[in-house]
Amino acid sequence: MNPDFVIIAVDGGAASGKSSTSRLVAERLNLMHVDTGSHYRAVTFALIQAGVSPEDEAAVAAQLRGLPLDTQLDGRSARISLDGKVPSDDELRSDAVNAAVSPYAAVPAVRQFLFNFQRSQADVARQNNFAGLIMEGRDIGSVIFPDATLRIFLEADAATRAERRAAEGQSDSIEQRDKIDSSRKTAPLTCPEGAIKIDNSGMTLEEVVDAISNLVGTSTAGSTKN
Ligand code: DC
Repeated sequence: MNPDFVIIAVDGGAASGKSSTSRLVAERLNLMHVDTGSHYRAVTFALIQAGVSPEDEAAVAAQLRGLPLDTQLDGRSARISLDGKVPSDDELRSDAVNAAVSPYAAVPAVRQFLFNFQRSQADVARQNNFAGLIMEGRDIGSVIFPDATLRIFLEADAATRAERRAAEGQSDSIEQRDKIDSSRKTAPLTCPEGAIKIDNSGMTLEEVVDAISNLVGTSTAGSTKN
């Protein structure tokens, strides 16, 4: 891997602070930011619209086959487009999608469908002259980029997470989603071996961003070209 190009994997449960942290680290270090939760939400939205149940894997696979995926840059954020259309935040964060995304994300055909697309985001970041990529999700350090420069696992206590969720105006059951995401067979939410755990409950956002930026400095020290 080119040591000049940094890949940071950020995993953690719902409302663990992944998105706000990843966005700010991206700004500070000139990285492209990818929220893979939005990929699962986009696919869920499309499958709900097509009337395909997560229990019928063959139908899910058939529906996804031939669905073109692409990336559209919105500043530092890489947004997914399906069949040429970038789903809106309202579509991605509706109650229906909140309730259905974990069951769809547990379907192996859905995960296979997104795997190459997610890996290819590193090329998109290179082509657009970013210094690297920060990707957040549930299986980034375990499955998508086990070879990342730095793998972070974010945690926060239940009260902090509930507060963040309420501040975002969201009311879905994060415990229920975490339960399904952690117990599924394919790529469950887990802290991969060798990842660095950060409990950010008592930390400000800036402190977390500082901690991750310092860790990047440490993990690339000595690997820069003279
Ligand atoms: O990050 P988020 O809460 O928007 O993610 C929505 C759902 O997508 C989450 O409950 C599980 C799924 N997901 C996943 O299975 N793997 C990822 N890498 C990212 C999200």
